[in-house]
Amino acid sequence: MTEVPCKVPQPSNICIVGGAGHVGLPLALTFVTRGFRISVYDKNEEILRRIEQGEMPYDEENGQPLLDQANKTGLLRLSSDPASVGDAETVVVTIGTPVDEFMNPVFKVIKNCADELLPYLSDDQLMVLRSTVYPGTTDWLDGYLKSRGKQLRVSYCPERVVQGHAIKEIQSLPHLVSGTTDRAADAAADLFGSLTDRIVRLSPMEAEFAKLFHNSYRYIKFAVANQFYMIANAAGVDYNRVLDGMKQDYPRDSEIPHAGFTAGPCLLKDTMQLAAFSNNQFTLGHTAMVVNEGLVLYLVEEIKRRFGELGCMTVGLLGMAFKANSGDTRASLSYKLKKMLEFQAEGVLTHDSHVHDDPDLKTLDEVLENSDLLILCVPHTEYSELQTGDTPVIDIWGYL
Ligand SMILES: NC(=O)c1ccc[n+]([C@@H]2O[C@H](COP(=O)([O-])OP(=O)(O)OC[C@H]3O[C@@H](n4cnc5c(N)ncnc54)[C@H](O)[C@@H]3O)[C@@H](O)[C@H]2O)c1
Repeated sequence: MTEVPCKVPQPSNICIVGGAGHVGLPLALTFVTRGFRISVYDKNEEILRRIEQGEMPYDEENGQPLLDQANKTGLLRLSSDPASVGDAETVVVTIGTPVDEFMNPVFKVIKNCADELLPYLSDDQLMVLRSTVYPGTTDWLDGYLKSRGKQLRVSYCPERVVQGHAIKEIQSLPHLVSGTTDRAADAAADLFGSLTDRIVRLSPMEAEFAKLFHNSYRYIKFAVANQFYMIANAAGVDYNRVLDGMKQDYPRDSEIPHAGFTAGPCLLKDTMQLAAFSNNQFTLGHTAMVVNEGLVLYLVEEIKRRFGELGCMTVGLLGMAFKANSGDTRASLSYKLKKMLEFQAEGVLTHDSHVHDDPDLKTLDEVLENSDLLILCVPHTEYSELQTGDTPVIDIWGYL
């Protein structure tokens, strides 16, 4: 696949639908640095209020300074009114695309969103779908809009950044760009060409698969490490020592990760989108789910094996976010572990200084002083110097 050049457009109006979210907001702030006038349309009025008051609501490298700058320039507008898409030349959609309780994609979120926007869309606009979607969604959306009398250009350009470093990666990674017509793809290439000169052209279906393959591959890779961990641990062998030994001057294995909780709003969800697309024949994806989600169950059994029944123990969980140095608890496996331990242990104490919306959290001192056993759920940097005295610590990450 070759990267193709594109021409940088004059800064214009962009409306980002779902623009107060983890994907939409960094994208909005980055476009502002290029001189675009951005309007953020989002249903979440509480988050909009916080952004309006100058607060960057997520842990995002360089997010706060860019928000301060955006507020000063006046190039960022916030709204909870779908009519705000009306005066934009480009509408970028970054809404959440969840799976339901049966692990099936919730198709209606895109349809409902399109229905809400329909009265305000016009034929000269470009619509860029940027959420991670079920294969075929872009072509479906194009047909749906046409069936409702709207002839706007429709493009799919998936977001591929890692949460927390989005602003840097939006400007450094190549952007996958596709369109249901060449005109749509060209316009999208010009738009993202204002952020980077690295544009990779694919068809919509190829780009949709590419994004799902990215996340599924990552999910499976973590499952491999987690399964190795469980096999080694059950044999009384330290997986992290094995891994370090394997990687010593052996570049072929450099990609194998450490074991750890594989969680968050995207990896499992997108693996399951692909599984649903392939009529549940994505066996590697399903197996990865069993391994990654099962690590928590394994851990509880392992604790009971080593320390006996938990009925008279208080267990302290360190790190409740879904990943290190983030305050995002969406689909965090720490909460799954907490739920299981609450049934079995005398008490469960939790700490995470990055998380601000969980009233059960204790201070680190409280957890350290009152726990009989500690589990490092997430390797936040602040735990690297942790002094735990005589209290045993379970550290699957090999971080301590
Ligand atoms: N979080 C990531 O790191 C990441 C990375 C790449 C891709 N993605 C994908 O990007 C998409 C968004 O993810 P996110 O993490 O930003 O989710 P999010 O929940 O943080 O943000 C979505 C935002 O959309 C808003 N919203 C939902 N429906 C809406 C509607 N109909 N109209 C207006 N606003 C609406 C919500 O209020 C929310 O603020 C998902 O498809 C996700 O899979 C996420």
